[in-house]
Amino acid sequence: MSETKGQTAIAHTNIAFIKYWGKADPILNLPTTSSLSLTLNEYYTKTRVEEADEDSLMINELKQDSKRVHEFLNVLREEMGDFPPLRVISENKVPLSAGLASSASSFAALTAAVAKHNNWDLSLEELSCLARRGSGSATRSFFPDFAIWDKGHDDKSSFAHHYDVPNLPIALVVCKISGTIKKVSSSDGMRRAQTSPNYDAWVKESAKQLEDMKVALQNADLERVGQIAEANALAMHGLNLTATDRRFTYFNQNTMKVMEEVKVLRAKGYIAYATMDAGPNVKIITSLEQAEDIKAYLTERFRKIQFDIATPGPGISYE
Ligand code: DP6
Repeated sequence: MSETKGQTAIAHTNIAFIKYWGKADPILNLPTTSSLSLTLNEYYTKTRVEEADEDSLMINELKQDSKRVHEFLNVLREEMGDFPPLRVISENKVPLSAGLASSASSFAALTAAVAKHNNWDLSLEELSCLARRGSGSATRSFFPDFAIWDKGHDDKSSFAHHYDVPNLPIALVVCKISGTIKKVSSSDGMRRAQTSPNYDAWVKESAKQLEDMKVALQNADLERVGQIAEANALAMHGLNLTATDRRFTYFNQNTMKVMEEVKVLRAKGYIAYATMDAGPNVKIITSLEQAEDIKAYLTERFRKIQFDIATPGPGISYE
């Protein structure tokens, strides 16, 4: 037990199979589409908040610029009532090189720790709603396994909930491709993607893909889950390439090479589908059974890329 009054929460990161890629309201972080994700067991953020003289942030024992966190704490103060300054101490087990959105687990853990610390009696959905103001993808990190973030239409109606899927033996092979191209933040990427002439079509198609994904998940049809997730991810990245405001891509040559190998793996009879986020890394959707084989195959071909296997993870917890 620490002597300082505080509270610790743990949130796992999530990877979207149907992506959030565009904001209807950039202040409230209301999305243009609903999204669906899988929470991962292997990557998480553990955050402790303690009363202090001023808001501050430490991540993995290093003091960080706390502007985004400070702004978020002020949003919580506006929404829930004032509370004293907090020292935020985060342990991030989301390797940046894995290109997974650490903002998802970070803002979920922070929201949960602050709520518990202040004895707010909130449901997971209400916590999800608050976390959205910090980072959209954080809405989905409160729930185990699959979650759906319903886009809603205003501050109170836009949050995620657990999506129950019966027994799906799913795994991801996470390819840690190092980034060499200039980083475009998710927010900036979305803003630019929304200038694509294909943006309205993406919004329409994404709604259809979400419905198809639900059916595939209920049928435990992993092949179909992968097909839909890959199509959705490629459409998202297509928006970046066709943005009229400074078109861009998160892909590099290794991203393309791994994506080619994903097709080769499929031709060999494996379940293997690619999904990519705001970075060059590829996450391959496959079965628990085939994940080791796929990892071995890719390790052989890409000596400089590291591969992890990730599996479904738990919802929010406290220490
Ligand atoms: C590509 O949640 O990082 O990972 O709301 O601006 O913080 P902000 O964006 P963020 O965006 C995540 C985008 C994505 C897709 C997804 O997770 O749905």
